[in-house]
Amino acid sequence: MNDMAQPTAAAQPMWQSVIDGVDRPARDNRQFAVTNPATGEEIARVADCSPSDAEAAIEVAHTALPAWRARTAADRGAILRRWYELMIADEDRLARLITAEMGKPLAEALGEVRYGAGYLKWYAEEAERIYGEIIPAPVDGAKAFVTREPVGVCAAITPWNFPNAMLMRKVAPALAAGCTMVAKPAEDTPLSALAAAQLALEAGVPAGVFNVVPCSRPTEVGAALTESTVVRKLSFTGSTEVGRRLLADCAGTVKRVSMELGGNAPFIVFDDADIDAAIDGAMASKYRNAGQTCVCANRFYVQRGIHDRFCERLAERVAALKVGDGAAEGTEVGPLINQAALDKVVRLLDDATSRGARLVTGGAALGGRFFEPTVLTDVAPGSAIVTEEIFGPVAPIIPFDTENEVIAAANDTPFGLAAYCYTRDLGRAWRMSDALEYGMVGLNEGIISAVSAPFGGVKQSGMGREGSRHGIEDYLEMKYIRMGGLSA
Ligand code: SIN
Repeated sequence: MNDMAQPTAAAQPMWQSVIDGVDRPARDNRQFAVTNPATGEEIARVADCSPSDAEAAIEVAHTALPAWRARTAADRGAILRRWYELMIADEDRLARLITAEMGKPLAEALGEVRYGAGYLKWYAEEAERIYGEIIPAPVDGAKAFVTREPVGVCAAITPWNFPNAMLMRKVAPALAAGCTMVAKPAEDTPLSALAAAQLALEAGVPAGVFNVVPCSRPTEVGAALTESTVVRKLSFTGSTEVGRRLLADCAGTVKRVSMELGGNAPFIVFDDADIDAAIDGAMASKYRNAGQTCVCANRFYVQRGIHDRFCERLAERVAALKVGDGAAEGTEVGPLINQAALDKVVRLLDDATSRGARLVTGGAALGGRFFEPTVLTDVAPGSAIVTEEIFGPVAPIIPFDTENEVIAAANDTPFGLAAYCYTRDLGRAWRMSDALEYGMVGLNEGIISAVSAPFGGVKQSGMGREGSRHGIEDYLEMKYIRMGGLSA
C-alpha cells in the first residue's frame, strides 16, 4: 500500500495497482513516480506493471466475466449507481487528486469528477434498456430474434487530460453491458484511475471485474492488451498516431475497437455573430484545461468585418487569465502536463511567428510547465499551428471573407472531431452544420460535451461513439437466433 499521495491529495492511501480486487505491487516490484506538473514534486509511487502483470489482470477479468454477465441488468445498474454515489460523496478528494496529478484548476477538476460520475449514473440506467429484437420469421413454423450480449473482456487505454472522466466514459458502459475490463491509465496520471477502482470495490463491483494496471512502459503493456486473444475489445482515447498503431496491433486478433483520437477543431465566427457569446465560447473552448482537450478550438476563423474587434476583445479576456498551480485559489489556467507538451507549444508558436504571425497577447513560457495564454493573428494558412493539434493555451486567428472559403478551410484536415460556428443567421447555421465534416458541431456553443450526447469523430479522429444511449453499443454483440420446427 502506498501512502505517499496522502499529504497532497488522498484521504485514504492510494493503491499501487488493482488486480482481482486487491492492491498489488508489480510482480518484479518495479514502481514509478507520479509528479505534480505544477510543482515538479513526487506525489506518489505506483506499481510499474509489466506485460506479465497485464496478463494476470486479463486472466482475472476473464475469470470474473461469467458471473458478472449473468447478473441481471438491474443488479449491475444498482452497483454502478452506488459507485456514482460514492464518487459524488468523495468528489473533493477526487478533484484534488486530479489537480495534483494533472494540473487543472480545482474548479475544473471538480467539474470533471461530476462529469465522470455522470457516466456511471447514465449507464446504471441504460443497463436495463439493452433490448433485443423480434424479426418477422421469413419461413413458416419459425421464429427469428436478436439478443444483445456483452462483448467480453475489454481493455481501456485512457489519457491524462481527463484522468477520471475518460475512464468513466469507458468503464461505465462496459460494466453496464456485462463486460469486464482491464484499464491502463496514462503514465502521467494513474492515481485517479486507482482511486476510482477502489471506490468501485466499495460499491460492490466484484473483484476482477474492473482492474487497473498503471505502467511506465505503455508500448509493452499495450501490446499485452492488443495481442491477447482473451481481450475482445479495445477502447482507446489519445493521439491519432498512437491510435493508428493500436488499430494495426488489434488486427492480429480481429478485436473490436473504439478510437477517440486527435482533433483540429475550427472555431468559426461570422460577422453576424453575437460577439459576446462568441468570446465566451472561445474562452471556454480554447482555455479550458489549458487548451489540453481533443475538442478544444485549435484554429479560429473570423470573418473580416468582425475580425479586429474579436481579436481585441479576446486578447483582453485572455490577458486577464490567472495562470498558476491548479490547487491555488483563483487559478484559471494550470500547467501543461509535461516538458514535451511545453516544447511542442513553443515549436508551433516559433514556426507561426517566423511565417509572419503577430502576437496580440502572451507568447511566453513562464517557467516550469506554465505557458502564457496567447492570442496570435495574421497566421499564415498552412502553418503547423493550424494543421497540428496544439494542446496548449494558444489561439491562432485567421480572417476569412466567404462562407464557402471557410467551409473549405475548416474541412481541409485529416481530423474530424469537433467544430464550432457562431452566427445568428438560421439558414447559415444549418448550412454550416451540414457542411462541416465533423462528428460534433457546436452552433453558438463553445462547450458541447455531455454525458447524454454521443461523443466521437469522423475521418482520422476515430471511430465509435462514447456517452449517450449509443455508447453502450460498442460493448455489445448482436446474436441472431432462428428457431424452426414450430408448426403443429
Ligand atoms: C477529450 O479531450 O478527449 C474529451 C473532452 C470532453 O469530453 O469534453
